[in-house]
Amino acid sequence: MHPEISLPTLIAHRGYSAAAPENTLSAVRAAHHVGVSWVELDVQLLGDGTPVIWHDVDINRCSDGRGKLRHLSWKQTQDLDVGRWFSAAFAGEKMASLEAMLALVNELDMSINLELKVNRGHDPIALVERVLPVVLEALPAERFVLSSFDQTALRHSRTFATADNLALGMLVNRLPKGWQTQCGEIDAFSLHANWSRLKRAQADAIQQAGYSLLCYTPNNPVAFQPLWAWGAASAITDEPEIFQRYLSAPTATPPALINEVTKEQR
Ligand code: G3P
Ligand code: MG
Repeated sequence: MHPEISLPTLIAHRGYSAAAPENTLSAVRAAHHVGVSWVELDVQLLGDGTPVIWHDVDINRCSDGRGKLRHLSWKQTQDLDVGRWFSAAFAGEKMASLEAMLALVNELDMSINLELKVNRGHDPIALVERVLPVVLEALPAERFVLSSFDQTALRHSRTFATADNLALGMLVNRLPKGWQTQCGEIDAFSLHANWSRLKRAQADAIQQAGYSLLCYTPNNPVAFQPLWAWGAASAITDEPEIFQRYLSAPTATPPALINEVTKEQR
């Protein structure tokens, strides 16, 4: 048995990352503002062990600083501006701790697909040990899916809670040969696939094996349209508003709007 999770059609990737700097409190507020109740967020540990919401191995792309995340303390991160790189409107945005993010998610009555992001040089076990107790305490199982590309992190996560209390999602780029064994090992709830690499027969097999299918990161709802018929439960997208507009009135969506969406993967 799995938690009674009602998967949404749309999950805002790194928060609403087309409208606000990714993985920030502002990006989650932006998703909420447009009526999207689920967000995908990445979590990692700083050098001092603090769990923070961050995607990259370093701070170069998304802050006004430079260096590796694992060389920073919490105090040092709070001197960084993680909003101005995106736009002046977000100048002064601070890196979010996991704790602050969970408080916001609860305040807004939202749900999370949290990705355990194990970048090069990072320890999956330490990440799980710091993150799992905090999240399991903060969120009911119905509002939480934990995912990772890292099988060690997923296996260790399973030791913290049984399948009825914790939904685990296996993230894949190309579907690997041993995916059924890997999903079985962790008693997976879902499989999160790169939509642009997925084949219809694979989508069928995933669902026949009993797993919900989530797809990352489609930003063009026209190109993604066939995947709904393949049984995709959720699209994890940077562009939830473009999807909303298209899904509510497919024929009325101006082609120009869709053509503007070019960034499918970062
Ligand atoms: O969880 C889906 C997606 O976020 C995985 O890739 O690199 O955007 O974290 P990435
Ligand atoms: Mg992610």
